[in-house]
Amino acid sequence: MTQFFVTTPIYYPNAEPHIGHTYTTIVADVLMRWHAQRGFATWSVSGVDQHGEKMVETAAQRGVPVRQLVEHYAKVFQDTWAALGISPSRFVCTTEPVHVANVQRILKQVHDAGWIEKREYEGRYCVGCERFLTERDLVDGKCRDHEREPELRRETNYFFLMSREFAWLRGEIESGRFEIRPERYRNEALAMLRDESGLGDLSISRPKTRLDWGIELPFDRAHVCYVWFDALISYLTGAGLPDDPRLAARWAVAEHLIAKDILKPHAIFWPIMLKAMGYTTPRRLSVHGYWNVDDRKVSKSLGNMISPLAMRDRYGFEPFRYYLLREMSYGLDSSFSEAAMVERVNADLANNLGNLVSRTLNLVEKVCGGAYPDAGELDPNVLGFLSLDQSLRQTREQVERAFGQLQAHAALAAIFQLSTDLNRLIDGFAPWKLAKEPGGVATAGAVLRVACDGLRAIADLLVPFLPDTAARIAAKLDARPLVRGEPLFPRLELAAD
Ligand code: MSP
Repeated sequence: MTQFFVTTPIYYPNAEPHIGHTYTTIVADVLMRWHAQRGFATWSVSGVDQHGEKMVETAAQRGVPVRQLVEHYAKVFQDTWAALGISPSRFVCTTEPVHVANVQRILKQVHDAGWIEKREYEGRYCVGCERFLTERDLVDGKCRDHEREPELRRETNYFFLMSREFAWLRGEIESGRFEIRPERYRNEALAMLRDESGLGDLSISRPKTRLDWGIELPFDRAHVCYVWFDALISYLTGAGLPDDPRLAARWAVAEHLIAKDILKPHAIFWPIMLKAMGYTTPRRLSVHGYWNVDDRKVSKSLGNMISPLAMRDRYGFEPFRYYLLREMSYGLDSSFSEAAMVERVNADLANNLGNLVSRTLNLVEKVCGGAYPDAGELDPNVLGFLSLDQSLRQTREQVERAFGQLQAHAALAAIFQLSTDLNRLIDGFAPWKLAKEPGGVATAGAVLRVACDGLRAIADLLVPFLPDTAARIAAKLDARPLVRGEPLFPRLELAAD
């Protein structure tokens, strides 16, 4: 069976998950369901990044032990995904003994192979980013993402000799062996490699005198491993390192989903780390833009977060999931607004699809006595429509093409276009009138048959995107007798806070 393997970033567990984490995690879930539906053996990894200074900083601010903080939020993240019906095949916590052992074994191996060197270092460190910044990361002397001044640091660090492999990495990216998409991020990664002044070798340790929360270097117990070196390895831990026999098959097709904030560690550090460790580059890196609220990136440090559980409680999870998938063009930034979400959900889910379901079932109940309608002679062409077969073929092609490029918004637009067309078909043939004309019942039934079959196809196409909605539509169509029942989506009202 062909394998599919996708990862989300492992998130920092120092606050509740917000819309940004939720988006990447939803896209991974859509990909999993999409591939499962197409017969792939699927595996996904998510998790939490528990080491590093950011965790120590938050724990100190809250006056709690760091281990307690990261264990608490690890559970919050895991429980949130479960509550939303999303379950990664493997949820990695970086404090897990199996992960710690993997990181230490890899550090030793890479050190023994001559990839690591001890040096004096001076640089400007942003705890928000958990990395040393370069000129290009700064706006008015502050980190552009976290709006805080980085700290000047001078200390002895171990360096991973990454710069030796920049030419090789360029080749991996240019040849497409390591695919970075969309194109703009591939270009950005290549630009980083061209202008090496922003790169150099990678500091991969912190002296315990500064930070003792981390994985000890096996070759120098006075230092802990840099959080990114530890975090990236979680993808291998998640894929089954050290002893899952499926590790190799998974690794061969690994696809990482990230937002553009962490392009550099994934596009530059990680493939070279993998080379040093004796693994191939990941197959693909798929990079999306930011969700902004009030024109600023949503983040914990800026405090303008949108909670997925609050959205679920107010509006239902699938309407929220639909909005995120329908609104963002993968690769570009989007603005979140509750008012726009309510409008979009009412237009597409309640008025378009929801209405199609309820009017179809209502008419089937009335015209066909609740029996699944018989197919009949019907020439939709007379009203300027394609036959159902033709329009389904067209829709399927559009959906495949769009989601093949991770453009869920375009895939959903194509699916909902089919719903619009079916509504127009019903309007055009007016089965409620036909049924009253002599001999018209059979034609009315034939129209409703097209609508029912079309709805089945829509449900099938929606499975990866809106699994619960898809199942509810299918269940309504499978019921005997068919009845109008409850509306699929109630119209939403904007919640007043
Ligand atoms: N711990 C690191 C990742 C290590 S991966 C080996 C980290 N964590 S994070 O909690 O900051 O998560 C960053 C990721 O969360 C982004 O790459 C993206 O997937 C998601 N998002 C967080 N905020 C986001 C937006 N405002 N918009 C879209 N996605 C964003 O970085």
